[in-house]
Formats: sequence, structure tokens, C-alpha cells
Amino acid sequence: MKRVLLGLAAIALAVAVPLPATAAQTHPGQHGGRTPDNLRELSHKIKVYIGSAVAVTPLADEEDYRRTLNREFTHVTAENAMKWAEVEPQRGQYTWDGADAVVRNAQRNHQKVRGHTLVWHNQLPEWLTTGVADGSIDAAELRGILRDHIFKEAGRYRGKIRAWDVVNEVVDDEGNLRNSIWLEKLGPGYIADAFRWAHQADPHAKLYINDYNLEWNTAKINQTLNIVKDLKAKRVPIHGIGFQGHLGIQYDYPADFPTVMKQFTDLGLEAAITEADVRMVLPVTPEKLATQADYYKRMLDTCVDNRRCVEYTVWSFTDRHSWVPGWFEGEGAATIMDENLAPKPAYDALLTVRR
Ligand code: XIL
Repeated sequence: MKRVLLGLAAIALAVAVPLPATAAQTHPGQHGGRTPDNLRELSHKIKVYIGSAVAVTPLADEEDYRRTLNREFTHVTAENAMKWAEVEPQRGQYTWDGADAVVRNAQRNHQKVRGHTLVWHNQLPEWLTTGVADGSIDAAELRGILRDHIFKEAGRYRGKIRAWDVVNEVVDDEGNLRNSIWLEKLGPGYIADAFRWAHQADPHAKLYINDYNLEWNTAKINQTLNIVKDLKAKRVPIHGIGFQGHLGIQYDYPADFPTVMKQFTDLGLEAAITEADVRMVLPVTPEKLATQADYYKRMLDTCVDNRRCVEYTVWSFTDRHSWVPGWFEGEGAATIMDENLAPKPAYDALLTVRR
């Protein structure tokens, strides 16, 4: 069918048949064909992976959650299951069940996987933070522990992860390298080390630096650009920039986001929006849902408008399972479907996005 259409288009061009010039402008819904039925269809149409964070318990226990996830998405990220505290709760004792389940489900459903995350300051195992704090783990040992962790985890999923968030949130909101056990004990070189180790463990995975507020925070943007330039100058394997995309409608939309994304992709990186959600101060109103829809759509427009942006992932697809109410007091309703998995205006707005 596609070939037939292309053939017809070629003939039309060749004989210079005047096209119905107004059709595209007056019927935007028909431009490039009908509106997709779901996000998976949209993903193929706009050639951007559309992903969601996945939580392990509902994936196992909730039929409707699983069915919706597998129908709608072409990419997934484990919301927590690949974090260090989850995979190595006791030193040397690994619990891969949750992470394995996410990867297995993705493979069965032709979804790519984002690995999240190898180096972070949060959700570290207790044995690690305590050992560092009481001095029983010194700097040299800590470096070895980090190296082993990266080789173990990235090695386990070698070939099964499209992209890894190698380092997460390593710059603070003032634009300084974040004060963490990594910076404090290992110095700033831990970032380059982490990328080199991840590349050795899984040579085909795209390796990302990922952060929040990176859509607009100038201090953080500039520091992150410097990190990327420095890594590239040292020929460290870094391939992608991840914008988490945690927005709230009580704040203005970050209108400079397209320019910011371009600053990074001009350095040769690919880009992804890795954790999109748009929270609101409760209660929900139709006006707030309309604003939320607009924010979701604008983020996807930004991705579609940048040739190097390849993925748009939401941080859960349903208000039934979202981190927002637990982390932002009085806020919620941050996802694209309600508790019953009914599409919200944001979902419909995403379906209208065109390349
Ligand atoms: C959040 C999860 O959604 C929660 O379930 C968990 O309790 C805390 O972490 N930035 C990130 C994500 O990179 O890993 C965080 O996920 C949200 C902020």
C-alpha cells in the first residue's frame, strides 16, 4: 500500500498535477493521514519511541495495566527495578527478578528498554551508604565497588538495553557538580569512569547523562554542556542527553526547551525525554487538564522537531501508579490516563502530534 502511494506521489510530481493546496491547511487532522488509534501507532508514524516507566508489582498483578502498557508503548523504563538498592540489597546478593521481568515483558511485546540507572545518589543500598559513612569502605574500595556494579548490571543486560542512563542527576540546581559519595570520595573523574565501564560492559548501548530541570535551568544546562564537552574532548563514550521532563502546570511551560535540546544535539548527542509527567495542584479541573495536555504535547513537539530526539517516555502512564502524590504534597493527576486507565486530554493531545 505504501509503495503504491509512493508511486502515485512520484507520478503526481512528474506530471506536475496541481495538488489540492488547501487540504493540508484546512484539515490539519488529515495532514499525513488519519489520527493514530493509540500511542504505538503514533510512535511508528512520527518515528519516535514512545515509552513509559513500568512498576513491577502492577506489571505482575494487574491485567489491565499490563494490557495497556503493551498496547500503547514501544519503549519502557523500569521505574525502580534496576536501581542499585533493588538489585543488590545485601552486599554480594543480587535480586534481578523485577528487572528481568520488565525486560522479558518488553522483549515479548517488541518494546525497547531504557536502563535506569547505573550511577545515582538516591536509592543506593544501605550497606553501601553506611559503609562509606562509617569509613569501613574507603575510596579505593568504593571505586572498585562502582566498577563491579556497572559491569554486573550493564553486563547482565548486554544487548538488551537500547540506552542506559549511566549517570543520573549529577549536577545540582546551582550548576555545581552534585555533592554525593561519588564526587566526595572519587572526585569528578567518576563520571568518565562510569561511561567507560558501561561501554565496555555493553558496547552497543547508547550511553546517556540524564537530569531534571534541564529543560530550563541555565546554571544546570551550562554545567551539563561543559561535562559533555569535556567527556567528548577526552573521547569518553557518551551518546545521549536525557531530559527527565518533570513539569508542573503551576509553573510556566519552559519555552526555551527546543533551544536547549538543540544546544546538546549540536554537540552530536542524541536526545530523549526520559520521565515526562505534568503534575498539578489538586483538585483536578477541566482547565487544568487542558493545560496539562498542552504541556505534554509541547514536549513531544520538541522531540519531533529535533532530528536527533529519538524517545519520549512518560513516568508512568496512569494516575493509579504515579510517584507524584507521594513526593509533592497536594499535587497529583500527573499522567496521561486516570486511575481507571481512561485517556485524559493529554493522551488525545499526544495523538495529534505530527512530524
Ligand atoms: C522515582 C520513582 O518514581 C519512585 O517510585 C521512587 O520512590 C523514587 O524515584 N528522577 C528519577 C527517577 O530519575 O528515578 C525517580 O523515580 C523520579 C525522579
